Amino acid sequence: MSLPSLFPTSLATIAMLLAAGAQAQSSGTGKGKAEDRAAATVRKMTAEEKLILPKGIIAVPLMGMKMPEGALASAGFIPGVPRLAIPNLTETDASLGVAYIMGLRNDGGATALPSGIAMGATWDPGLLFRAGAMIGSEARAKGFNILLGGGANLMRDPRNGRTFEYLGEDPLHSGLLVGASIAGIQSNHIISTIKHFAVNSQETGRFFVDAKISESAARESDLLAFQIGIERGRPGSVMCAYNQVNGHHACDSDWLLNTVLKRDWRYPGFVMSDWGAVPGTSAALNGLDQQSAWQIDTGEYFGKPLATAARENPAYAARLDDMNRRILTAIYANGVDKYPVKPGGAIDKVANAAIAEEVARQGIVLLRNERGALPLATTAKRIAIIGGYANRGVLSGAGSSQVHGDGGPAVVVPKSGEGPIPDLISEQYHRSAPLAAIKAKAPQAKVVYSDGRYISEAVAHAKLADVVVIFATQWATEGIDQPDLSLPNGQDALIGAVAAANPRTIVVLETGGPVLMPWLDRTAAVLSAWYPGARGGEAIASVLFGETNPSGRLPVTFPASLDQLPRPVLDGADQSVESFDVMTGRGGTLSVNYDIEGSDVGYRWNQRRRQKALFPFGFGLSYSSFDVSALQVRGDRATFTVRNSGARAGATVGQVYLISRNGDAKQRLVGFQRVMLEPGASQSVSVTIDQRLLADWKDGAWQMPAGDYGFALGDNAEALKRPVRVRLAAKRWTD
Ligand code: GLC
Repeated sequence: MSLPSLFPTSLATIAMLLAAGAQAQSSGTGKGKAEDRAAATVRKMTAEEKLILPKGIIAVPLMGMKMPEGALASAGFIPGVPRLAIPNLTETDASLGVAYIMGLRNDGGATALPSGIAMGATWDPGLLFRAGAMIGSEARAKGFNILLGGGANLMRDPRNGRTFEYLGEDPLHSGLLVGASIAGIQSNHIISTIKHFAVNSQETGRFFVDAKISESAARESDLLAFQIGIERGRPGSVMCAYNQVNGHHACDSDWLLNTVLKRDWRYPGFVMSDWGAVPGTSAALNGLDQQSAWQIDTGEYFGKPLATAARENPAYAARLDDMNRRILTAIYANGVDKYPVKPGGAIDKVANAAIAEEVARQGIVLLRNERGALPLATTAKRIAIIGGYANRGVLSGAGSSQVHGDGGPAVVVPKSGEGPIPDLISEQYHRSAPLAAIKAKAPQAKVVYSDGRYISEAVAHAKLADVVVIFATQWATEGIDQPDLSLPNGQDALIGAVAAANPRTIVVLETGGPVLMPWLDRTAAVLSAWYPGARGGEAIASVLFGETNPSGRLPVTFPASLDQLPRPVLDGADQSVESFDVMTGRGGTLSVNYDIEGSDVGYRWNQRRRQKALFPFGFGLSYSSFDVSALQVRGDRATFTVRNSGARAGATVGQVYLISRNGDAKQRLVGFQRVMLEPGASQSVSVTIDQRLLADWKDGAWQMPAGDYGFALGDNAEALKRPVRVRLAAKRWTD
């Protein structure tokens, strides 16, 4: 697998990545050596032993299941082969921290990172490496050697229930950030996944929805995010998705798994299924290497049926060797055998919470700041805090990625409805109260709280206050999409009434992704804090009072209306079945046509349609101001200068976009870097342009036509400046 041109991330990160790689190589765990060792081990395996690694269980003492020796209550367990020094594989979710799995494992809390989209809003691969390293260290300390992290799906629909788990809408941005997170996780000598491969873009009908997308559109968008993430992070495993792609289940897709992932990208690791995503034993021939959680599948396909097939069919026998070889390659390449995990390891909760807070501070996006409303003066006399359970905590997303901190959530709002869903998910708030954090920042102020249930009461408080901070929440969960982008529970009306009562109203959004804001023009300021994690209250207060100069930039487009979307009505929205239901959410028929937008996801769709977002991709304000200039593009390198023209230190994200090719408008992010500057300081930035972003995928290869390529710097996808044009030669290459 060729290493891509290194995009500039912090030197520290590059050093960490290289050190991890070097160490792996020297300790016989580098890819090449790992594959050789794996092949040697497979040659020693008996027929029975070859059937152990390709099949896992969900390790929960439920449904009468007996926990095997060495299994921890968690998402997954695969027994090892002691005779060959192959360790058990203990699997936990997920990208935002060690998941609590409905409290079935009583080993203390874990540190909850902010949501994936909050991490995406940092635009900082170096920070995501450190965040991944932190959750990976907690997974190791709790006895897990596989962390099912690395959510890399692009946001094709902001209503997707799992938007909060993912990083954004752009392949370069998501690929670089997920790769850094994966490298961080694996720096603990454990395996990370990258998931859910691929084009897993909505939860409605998730077990059967068929994503229709042309090969070129997929290669230039969703697949490119995975390709960059795999090149940068080298995940030991790829988790294939529930959905279908062009009529084939992703976990049974010869094109996705054998052609794209293993042949074209030369991926050496193994493909594990999502939980309950295996349609049959034939998936082994189509590239699936491990059936996860076989008990919730419709059959134990990689058990006896695979044994029989391997005995009777040489193709299955060869695949069975390859499946074991790939799983062992991931084990050896990451040193999972050499550095065994065991429960009860030490965890520095204070240091880990500080990393979560740093991510939250850097991920908060200042969307509006009129008349210098922010930062709040610590001399404010009366501050009204309204709604969002701000007196108790900050919102988190639900599903398999749900993390519990020490003591569990501060607030749990049960999900209404019947069946297994309400037992699996609920609306939970982490113990980090914005109210307490705000009081601590303004000890002289009278800070009063109203829960926002009654508009009349909230308005009364607003009228008496110097300033109002209203917390608006939009809960999201795996398994169910949002019906629209309005704030739920009448919050739009609440905000409108409060802002009408007091023009110094500041809205803090705790949402899973983009929302509409009918009250926007009546507010003084708006922050997007996403789901800000274990120390979210402190991070929000830090930005409100200016201790942190906001530097977050939107990783997704906030549409001005649903009509701006490629699919104003979500396909399948009329389906009654809640697709999260692992038992009954199957057997429907639903397809989504992603060729409407093709690879023009998000800001690219807006550019094609000449429509203006409510807030565009890459947007974010600061308490300082910045200039960008002197863009030069030579070959595959772009250089430019960033200057802090404001009065206080702060960070911004320099963004370089392709804006035209041979005179045709074509917008793509081709490079970025977050830059921290003292007032008046300047910095020259250099980014390497991955030329796959300048090309089209055509006839089995990347093809760049000769001609004029236009580039520009962007404060965001709609604010482009300093255009330059360069002539580039024609080029054709494969991955
Ligand atoms: C879930 C999710 C996947 C998770 C797995 C194990 O259904 O789709 O992200 O890692 O099952 O919990």
